[in-house]
Amino acid sequence: MKPNIVLFDTIHASGIDILKGFSNFSIAYGADRKRTLELCANANVIIIKSSIYIDRELIQASRKLNIVARAGTGIDNIDIDFLNERKIKLFTSNTGNSISAAEFTIMQILNLQRKTKETIQRVANNDFRRHLFEGYELFGKIIGIVGYGNVGKLVAERLKVFGCKLICYDPEMSKERLELEDNFKLTNQLEDLLKVADVITIHARLNKFNRHMFSKKEFNLMKPGVQIVNTARADLIDQEALVNAIKKNIVSHAALDVISPEMPSELPPEDHSYSNFLLKNDRIFITPHIGASTIEAQKRISLEISMKIRDYYEKRK
Ligand code: MLT
Repeated sequence: MKPNIVLFDTIHASGIDILKGFSNFSIAYGADRKRTLELCANANVIIIKSSIYIDRELIQASRKLNIVARAGTGIDNIDIDFLNERKIKLFTSNTGNSISAAEFTIMQILNLQRKTKETIQRVANNDFRRHLFEGYELFGKIIGIVGYGNVGKLVAERLKVFGCKLICYDPEMSKERLELEDNFKLTNQLEDLLKVADVITIHARLNKFNRHMFSKKEFNLMKPGVQIVNTARADLIDQEALVNAIKKNIVSHAALDVISPEMPSELPPEDHSYSNFLLKNDRIFITPHIGASTIEAQKRISLEISMKIRDYYEKRK
């Protein structure tokens, strides 16, 4: 019998073609909770990104489920313990979007240096005064990279070329501090980074221990005028504390690709009533979780996930 596969978030067409070849395939972009639970009741495979929470209730409702396929990296929206208890498989793509996320981060850091958002807004209002647009060079700046994993490492490689000084924090580093080369340090003490960085860019996975790892205490340790870039997960930052730090001029600007609650990325504006106090802050530059949104990354992920699902059912024949 063909497996029932339900796709809840958009993936590249190349993977959809593979999936359609061996399954009963349906699409449910932007389904609300009630519809999601109904669809999951009959599904053998569900494919998701960040828009759906695979919690205990949903797993319990999904009685025929063999596989949760996460078309991406982050698994903070999945109750992994309960999934394991139910012996449901989890497929992810760990590195499919790392390059895209790293390139996007570099763009965000440069945008903050060169005031891109303000510039575009002023020009749209017929204001072309160049002296208002003066920004900063990246050369010589100290960049703090939080999370030295797949994406953090790629960001570091790229920033070296700009002549930045790098301090990278990773709690899993066994040695407390390492001076790898001139202008390139590793530490497992977050404070080391907070005190010196001109820009802090976040590339950590969200887990039960690091929620709000950037709260009032951490902002108070930062160098006044620091810029924050978050392309990882919203809940790593206490958003109220960030806004207060901006008010106090501790943080000058922030570029956030992720905010909490997650933006409804599968729905057109007329179909949702999303609002968020961060959207009104003109020193916060928000993008809708698009760090991984390139043709290349999406194709890679779509193919990887679809082939893993196909192989699983081939082996069971
Ligand atoms: C990921 O975790 O893979 C990225 O944040 C992109 C996404 O959520 O789809």
